[in-house]
Amino acid sequence: MDRIDSKIRLRRLRKSKNIRSLVRETRLNISDFIYPLFVVEGENIKKEIPSLKENYHFSIDKLEDEIRELSDLGIKAVILFGLPKYKDECGSASYMDDGIVQKAIRKVKEVDSEMVVITDVCMCSYTSHGHCGILSEDGELLNDETLEYLSKIAVSHAKAGADMVAPSDMMDFRIEHMRNELDDNGYTNVSIMAYSAKYASAFYGPFRDAADSAPSFGDRKTYQMDPANSNEAIRECELDINEGADIIMVKPALSYLDVIRRAKDTFNMHMCAYSVSGEYAMLKNAVDVGLLSESAIEESLISIKRAGADMIITYFAKYMAKKLKNETCRA
Ligand code: PBG
Repeated sequence: MDRIDSKIRLRRLRKSKNIRSLVRETRLNISDFIYPLFVVEGENIKKEIPSLKENYHFSIDKLEDEIRELSDLGIKAVILFGLPKYKDECGSASYMDDGIVQKAIRKVKEVDSEMVVITDVCMCSYTSHGHCGILSEDGELLNDETLEYLSKIAVSHAKAGADMVAPSDMMDFRIEHMRNELDDNGYTNVSIMAYSAKYASAFYGPFRDAADSAPSFGDRKTYQMDPANSNEAIRECELDINEGADIIMVKPALSYLDVIRRAKDTFNMHMCAYSVSGEYAMLKNAVDVGLLSESAIEESLISIKRAGADMIITYFAKYMAKKLKNETCRA
């Protein structure tokens, strides 16, 4: 019993709530969160998304109240997804000046000029086939042809006032192409948040209902990553950083915490993790039916931050903002 480690009792620092708080290594903060918003054409629409409870489709005129609520809660960043008026082979509704996302960007900035506006840059919600780019006649996704369109979308978002564009398509060279096009058009101050390690995941299911973006045939495995690979994720991140990404992202989050940690340790870059729709749906439904206690939500988010994410895109952003606010009030 005189070995030194017999003197060490780690439970001492777990004795009380306030001691635990003193030695806590990871804390969630309202400024960690980015809230996804889905915008639709039409008027007077605020309609709950069945697959993503307590998240809504908003028409532009209904965005104002939502943005005010987010600002009041202390949420500082949103990521926008749009459901367009029409779809075609090359997703042309995605880069129009009066496209749904372009209108939403202007609206958000009008209501709160300080709200950080990030836009998802992809074509899957805008193409008639639901794939993330331009298809050849035999249904192959053409990489280099797609780059032109993605950059066009990014420039149109920048023009409408976006602070940051977030390409989620997984084409090769898209960051380089987009950075060049943004710079050539005078948008050197618009940042790129790259969905660098984006996996071909079943956890996007509820989102595809929300964004009406499921592929009409096949899957996304020729462009999104194989869930079994992590060395390749590091190569994806490295390429995006070299091509000019300002922030790199791992997506999904909960099943890929090791990838988040590895990327953070390897690059020391600003890192985002996207806690995707399937993660939200699992937790939300389990909590709602009483299978899990509500604290599972915070525990999951803190695990993502502990793994190395500096910021988290989450459908729980409002929930967490309310929770953190209450805790501060009580302290
Ligand atoms: C668009 C895109 C997707 C998600 C974000 N951007 C869907 C996909 O790649 O199929 C998923 C987000 C989520 O599940 O919450 N490419």
